[in-house]
Amino acid sequence: MALERYYTLGNTGLRVSRLALGTMTFGKEWGWGNEKADAKKIFDYYLDHGGNFVDTADMYTGGSSEEFLGDFMHARKNREEVVLATKFTFNTSPNGHVNGGGNSRKNIRRTLEESLKRLKTDYIDLYIMHCWDRMTPVEEVMRTLNDLVSEGKVLHYAFSNVPAWYASKAQMIARYNNYEPISALQLEYSMIQRTIEHEYIDLCQDMNAGIMAWSPLGGGLLSGKYKPGIDDQSDVEGRLKHITENGGEVTSKDNERNWNIVKALHEVSEEINQPMASVALNWTANQPSVASVLVGATKMSQIEANMKALDFNIPTELMKKLNDASAPDIPYPYTFFQPKMQERIYPDTKVGLKPDGYWKDLRIG
Ligand SMILES: NC(=O)c1ccc[n+]([C@@H]2O[C@H](COP(=O)([O-])OP(=O)(O)OC[C@H]3O[C@@H](n4cnc5c(N)ncnc54)[C@H](OP(=O)(O)O)[C@@H]3O)[C@@H](O)[C@H]2O)c1
Repeated sequence: MALERYYTLGNTGLRVSRLALGTMTFGKEWGWGNEKADAKKIFDYYLDHGGNFVDTADMYTGGSSEEFLGDFMHARKNREEVVLATKFTFNTSPNGHVNGGGNSRKNIRRTLEESLKRLKTDYIDLYIMHCWDRMTPVEEVMRTLNDLVSEGKVLHYAFSNVPAWYASKAQMIARYNNYEPISALQLEYSMIQRTIEHEYIDLCQDMNAGIMAWSPLGGGLLSGKYKPGIDDQSDVEGRLKHITENGGEVTSKDNERNWNIVKALHEVSEEINQPMASVALNWTANQPSVASVLVGATKMSQIEANMKALDFNIPTELMKKLNDASAPDIPYPYTFFQPKMQERIYPDTKVGLKPDGYWKDLRIG
């Protein structure tokens, strides 16, 4: 079985597989997802091969993703086996009214009830704030989420797409009020999107939360469909093409840095004889603080390949090649935390230098 080991998520006793199933592709409403019958096959394959962690959101495909999952779990009678994560924040009210989005107590309670109905369940394992709304006091968000845990409607909660200072403040509120703590941060993380490394890796160690990495293939760019050295790849079928043609933001992925990453990924995948997508997923799964990687798939062949992504190790020198090709720029003030600057603080003892693995020894427990 591809996923035969489970790990506790952040500070919880909840055991989850290192590859989670992303279901943003369940439903045709956004133009690049699956019909229900195909989504069911992907769901079944994931569970039958050891996966137990399934991610959705109230707003995915206009609610179809949650509805499909509700029906699939009902058909398999396996709600208890699934660690189910869903999200709130984006406006999902029928007429888009002013309190139908955001992280207010009113909207969290409304949208949770809607999600429970679509998912045909009476509790959510991991309830995720989808995005900071820049408005609701963090105290209100935390109190509301903690109340939902007390009521048994939510077992654990997490944040996605938030500034690090906000997550840190929220965790302090939880700590000093004896609230249920935040167990995970769901963040975009792949070789093409490494900006979270400046803050969130350390943050998650410090707040004892696991990272759930979304878009580990950059929405498809690292999937192996795109090859280096080919000027016009506009015919490659899939989500990126669809979004580009519909005026989406994907064009921003078409830059020199990203094509260098695709090139390095291609070379490494040839060298170890593994598909590019598997290598890219493996890279993300093996970064510090990453608890689970969200795999997305629109075809059976994709989920079959992706589920094998942890069945091999990338040799150290090839990991370095991928790291070098994808190294992010280091913006201020993070320049001050690099070895060269830190040496100027501790010139004799060199304690400012952190060798590989130092963070692990320092922070565990
Ligand atoms: N919290 C958030 O804000 C947020 C945001 C985005 C996603 N998410 C979550 O993260 C999950 C994964 O995100 P994602 O779908 O963007 O992940 P991704 O891994 O970056 O992209 C997945 C897409 O790549 C293509 N693909 C996947 N495996 C492939 C393979 N083996 N060979 C060739 N192509 C392959 C498929 O698209 P095509 O076949 O159409 O090219 C698939 O839909 C979502 O389902 C959702 O649960 C969360």
